[in-house]
Amino acid sequence: MTHRILLLPGDHIGPEIIAEADRMLRALSADFGLEAELEYAHLGGCAVDAEGDPFPATTRQRAESADAILLGAVGGPQWDDRPRDQRPETGLLKIRSTLGLFANLRPAMLFPELAASSSLRPEVVAGLDILIVRELVGGIYFGQPRGLRTRDDGVREGFNTLVYGADEIARIGHAAFQAAARRGGRLCSVDKANVLESSELWREVMNDLARDYPQVELSHLYVDNAAMQLVRDPNQFDVIVTGNLFGDVLSDCAAMLTGSIGMLPSASLDAGGRGLYEPVHGSAPDIAGRGLANPLATLLSVAMMLRHSLDEGALADRVERAVASVLAAGYRTADLASDSAQAADTRTMGEAVVNALYQ
Ligand code: IPM
Ligand code: MG
Repeated sequence: MTHRILLLPGDHIGPEIIAEADRMLRALSADFGLEAELEYAHLGGCAVDAEGDPFPATTRQRAESADAILLGAVGGPQWDDRPRDQRPETGLLKIRSTLGLFANLRPAMLFPELAASSSLRPEVVAGLDILIVRELVGGIYFGQPRGLRTRDDGVREGFNTLVYGADEIARIGHAAFQAAARRGGRLCSVDKANVLESSELWREVMNDLARDYPQVELSHLYVDNAAMQLVRDPNQFDVIVTGNLFGDVLSDCAAMLTGSIGMLPSASLDAGGRGLYEPVHGSAPDIAGRGLANPLATLLSVAMMLRHSLDEGALADRVERAVASVLAAGYRTADLASDSAQAADTRTMGEAVVNALYQ
């Protein structure tokens, strides 16, 4: 069966890293039996420029009929002053919510060769292997009412709503318990139940679900403590489940533990396992167009796509082994290199990984 894969390069470094994913997918098709048809569309700032909408109808049609979607990154300063419906980030939020991609899996694992690049001491991060499961289409990102208004006394105010239904909490909870059951069997739910009613319900629902998963040990942390524990002793965690906003913050924090945010892939899945895959990092306007971007998070996102949406686990393993082997061979992009004069550029790194597929 031919898999239809939609590539959305996006903005700034997005096209540079997606070019390496394209190279990898073509090699997997040519030589490793992957049957794939690649299609392209606009999302984000490039879509605003080309089609006047950060998530155009053509992109939506292609996304809805694809088996899997791979995204580079969206955003950039040139669109920051646009009205909210013309911002690149709005395109990303819309594709997530239109496709019902509620389960965002953000693994943070340390490649042993990169221990020295972590901001924490090597002995604190050794063996790091955490999975953050972030709720992606609810919470304060999408809650109504929201907006900007002027109070009676003439002062402007901005407001948002943090709301979670028990059904939304349960579906992300199931995804997290199942992930924990497949991994180390420990799940930590992160909330702010000492202050927020939405978190009180979150905790109650997680405790109810725990009865269905006797093989998983459930614990709870308040988000402030969780942030502290992540940088104090990250190895205490196996799987973390949390809401949209807390997950946004904690996943950047976890990313840095692994040496570079340029290393981390992610998957955003719907109820049927269809997904959008993207590196956790952003579009990095400051380094765009100079071959400085690290393509590994994107190539590792291809591996997640092969495993979770295309049922090609053996190819996913092959891609991950290839990434590990180029790191072991000493290839480093600028974000990881101790000597930037020696750093590999984006394309050199991408080609090295593709070559390593054949080993
Ligand atoms: C992420 C990003 C997005 C988010 C932005 C770009 C809208 O930070 O994927 O973590 O906040 O979800
Ligand atoms: Mg983020």
